[in-house]
Amino acid sequence: MTAPLPDAGFLNRYGPRALILGGSEGIGAAFAEQLARTGFDLTLVARSAGTLEATGADIAARYGVAVDCRPMDLTRPDLAERAADLLSEHEYGLVIYNAGATHGVGLFLDNPLDLARNLIRLNCDGPAIFSHLALSAMRERGRGGMILVSSMSGLVGSGYVAAYAATKSFEMVLAEGLNWELARQGVDVLCAVATLTDTPAMQRSGMVPDSGFPAMSAEAVASGALQHLGTGPIWYAAGDEVVEAMRAAPRAALTENASRASARLWGIDPA
Ligand SMILES: NC(=O)c1ccc[n+]([C@@H]2O[C@H](COP(=O)([O-])OP(=O)(O)OC[C@H]3O[C@@H](n4cnc5c(N)ncnc54)[C@H](OP(=O)(O)O)[C@@H]3O)[C@@H](O)[C@H]2O)c1
Repeated sequence: MTAPLPDAGFLNRYGPRALILGGSEGIGAAFAEQLARTGFDLTLVARSAGTLEATGADIAARYGVAVDCRPMDLTRPDLAERAADLLSEHEYGLVIYNAGATHGVGLFLDNPLDLARNLIRLNCDGPAIFSHLALSAMRERGRGGMILVSSMSGLVGSGYVAAYAATKSFEMVLAEGLNWELARQGVDVLCAVATLTDTPAMQRSGMVPDSGFPAMSAEAVASGALQHLGTGPIWYAAGDEVVEAMRAAPRAALTENASRASARLWGIDPA
């Protein structure tokens, strides 16, 4: 089934160009495709130049929009300077910070410290830097939108993905505060909280394919996020009722369940 597209009003409100951080595959490529079909010009960022150029060329050819590809690692130490350069290339009405699933699974102490620090750079430093720079320009213009893509993992601590879950929590709470600060300035901020989604990165992560957890399509996650921009600070792809049920459960039981689910997803023996 084709995901519903944003309408012409969306292009007027957030166009004419979107920047997608992590736009070469998975949910990011689905955002790129849906925005291009709506008429947005795009700038796409990812590390792997080959995949990025192939996605950009395909979208430009199919939808006749302008697509710039900028290979970049969002964990680099000079990200603030690079982000400022990137944002000065065009006026962006919409910025989507999607990259962020790159995590090794395992006990925190069994992984190198740098794995956790890399996640903090990718999921905390990066969103803070792009939010500060991009939203400053949008506030001056009195229009624009920003989407931070987070995860259900950010709702509760979980063994095996302890640092990943903690960094995804940062994105949710940041978006809530920014939404409150900027709504009155004509600028919309949304945290799109994805649930298990079928993406190339997820497949490469060593996930057990028949773990019993149903995965959403990247297209459905991107479409839902675009539809909810401007409606409030957070959209849960899994549905509000799932989150409300989680909030009603004892916190320790949630961490126990989340840790067991992580073990099952990645074929780890939790004993
Ligand atoms: N897939 C899921 O089941 C799931 C579930 C919940 C939440 N999410 C969230 O959804 C978002 C997208 O996840 P995903 O599964 O598509 O995987 P991902 O590893 O976040 O990859 C998405 C895009 O980001 C790019 N990227 C990754 N690390 C980067 C870096 N350091 N610098 C620049 N670009 C980078 C990737 O290209 P390169 O690898 O070439 O850089 C790709 O274009 C993430 O924020 C994730 O936390 C995903």
